[in-house]
Amino acid sequence: MKNLMVAPSILSTDFAYLGKTLEIINRSGADWLHVDIMDGMFVPNISFGTPILKAIAEHNKKPVELHLMIAQPERYLEVFSKYGVEQITVHAEACLHLHSVVQQIKSLGCKAGVALNPHTSLESLEYVIRDLDTVCVMAVNPGFGGQGFIPQTLEKIKELKQLIKRKDAKAFIEVDGGVTRNNVKEIWNSGADAVIAGSSIFNSEDPVKAIQELKKHP
Ligand code: DX5
Ligand code: ZN
Repeated sequence: MKNLMVAPSILSTDFAYLGKTLEIINRSGADWLHVDIMDGMFVPNISFGTPILKAIAEHNKKPVELHLMIAQPERYLEVFSKYGVEQITVHAEACLHLHSVVQQIKSLGCKAGVALNPHTSLESLEYVIRDLDTVCVMAVNPGFGGQGFIPQTLEKIKELKQLIKRKDAKAFIEVDGGVTRNNVKEIWNSGADAVIAGSSIFNSEDPVKAIQELKKHP
């Protein structure tokens, strides 16, 4: 049986200590690093841009997933792909031509992920799912860390699992937002392959241990 994979979200860290945080993540069991970019348009918040990506690229040893919460992400794919990024995840709601954006991500040598907001139906993925490496199921409305997990997400994960099977696709299911020790077991049982977690890892005394505990999903 496969294990649940865990990726810490850097958004919840104290950026005054970014180097220290990256050292902690480097020696943790984290499977990759999740990096949230927000533009104040697609989502109400603005996070950070290339200077932070550069700092991450210099100090981080884990694979990087960029979660682009930006309108028309195709404008930035090439620039962002230069920072040692393994996967770029865009929002279906932010792309007028999702299929084309997915192909652009792949042509830059990155894995392609598509994120769906809590209200967005899985139907938007029917004809693109076989091209995807990952589907990111948002369990909160994107924009901020530290929000509560939306319970309908569990049903969506199960239905996505069925869609992947029906379409004979290979996409990986990751769940982003509100993931804690208390709900990780249900998320795993619903069929997720990976969870993204920010505040439950970085607000804990020992982030390395918090990552381990999520992986074990007791
Ligand atoms: C939300 C971001 C998430 C967020 C997760 O818009 O995409 O990745 O950082 O943070 P928590 O785990 O605190 O919900
Ligand atoms: Zn995210």
